[in-house]
Amino acid sequence: MQAVIDYLKQNQARFVAELCDYVRYPSVSAQPQHAGDMKACARWLVKHCQDIGLTAELCLTDGHPIVLAKTPRTKSKKRPHFVVYGHYDVQPAEPFELWKTPPFEPRIEGRSLFARGACDNKGQNLAHLKAVEAYLKTGTGLPCDLTFVIEGEEEVGSKSLASFLRARRQELSCDAVVVSDTGMPSKKHPALTYALRGIAAFEITLHGPARDLHSGLFGGSVDNPAMALAQLLARLRDKNGRVAVPGFYDDVEPLSAYERKQFARLPYKESDYRKFLGVPKLFGERGFTPLEQRAARPTLEINGLTSGYQGEGSKTIVPSWARAKITLRLVPNQKPAKIVKQVLQQLKKLCPPTVRMEIQSGHGAEPYLVSPTGAQAQAALRALKSAFGCDPVIMREGGSIPIVNDFKKILGVDTLLLGLALPDDNAHSPNEKFDLDCFARGQLMGAHLWQELGGLKP
Ligand code: BES
Ligand code: MN
Repeated sequence: MQAVIDYLKQNQARFVAELCDYVRYPSVSAQPQHAGDMKACARWLVKHCQDIGLTAELCLTDGHPIVLAKTPRTKSKKRPHFVVYGHYDVQPAEPFELWKTPPFEPRIEGRSLFARGACDNKGQNLAHLKAVEAYLKTGTGLPCDLTFVIEGEEEVGSKSLASFLRARRQELSCDAVVVSDTGMPSKKHPALTYALRGIAAFEITLHGPARDLHSGLFGGSVDNPAMALAQLLARLRDKNGRVAVPGFYDDVEPLSAYERKQFARLPYKESDYRKFLGVPKLFGERGFTPLEQRAARPTLEINGLTSGYQGEGSKTIVPSWARAKITLRLVPNQKPAKIVKQVLQQLKKLCPPTVRMEIQSGHGAEPYLVSPTGAQAQAALRALKSAFGCDPVIMREGGSIPIVNDFKKILGVDTLLLGLALPDDNAHSPNEKFDLDCFARGQLMGAHLWQELGGLKP
């Protein structure tokens, strides 16, 4: 094991250069113009896996390819097997003008590596690959078999992965899935995440006049779809920050006193948080702390809002249509399909007869919750402690990783969420970064994890 640790230490500079190569691919899964970059990035990954001693293949899907890579299997008796999941796709980098340097030209400043995808999720899955490289290149025996599944559709709902898991169920049958794609409160607070929010997405369009109209000649005699949409959406949230949809909270489990105590233990300072977000005042569901609001309470968010003329100067029209992109974040026990039905019912009820409503449904994922007290979770906590040199916390996260529920349903196993992203890493925002200490500690965490998990009794 010392050889592994030494190897990691000695090769940091090269690892950082490799992460730079990885993030140079503009692997934006949502944008069709990047389909070629997606493939190129996946190919780079396959080659990289092969170079470090894994057997790797590019698996084509109806969407973006999946990279599958395995540690060399020994012929001996059955050993523990873990799947390491990650994603090489990234969120769109827009708005480009807010990046200090271009999103796909990595820049290192102090201990930060800036680029789209640096923390979400390339840096984190590369850390796991580097840990395994250290085992393989030093000839240190791995105490378990590992299979990497690195997909290209996480940021758009993991559409192809579930059928891939089904098709390869035997091959992927394992003791647990390990994922580093969540966060930690600070470098002094490595974390095991035991719950994620689910998600349900849809788009709503209100159609008004058959074409944009002169607002002077016709405005006043016809409804304005942008105004109608604004009024309609405004009715979905009350002044206490609650989602105003009948039945929305019916299945939400109340937070236990124990959980609220755990939340209260996490490092948090309101003024710092507010300043970091750049808001004059925080807002959230009454009766809950901001940490609870963002990780353990459901929400309805407008992610995009479009209508009328968006160019420079003015254009006096009544727009023909208005559209909003909406996502709901759901907490354990809420079911995406049921919630969407309730929300659409409410929208239909509230929609005025002066416009025509069109709904386009999108991706969805169930919330996730797993007990943090099992033997695997305890092993993971020990690995975090060894790697970071301090006691880890256990926590819930507000983001979603759609596939974790399928790991449970299809492979029958739990997922260990061992995220390496810091709160100020700007995931999904301009100037995304990854902390190079987290990168290095993440590699160490991987190295320790296989010892800890490999040593568990089956
Ligand atoms: N890594 C994130 C999810 C995440 C981040 C969970 C931090 C917990 C803490 C992941 O890449 C992500 O962004 N997922 C999307 C999924 C969606 C597009 C279906 C999300 O949460 O918005
Ligand atoms: Mn993401």
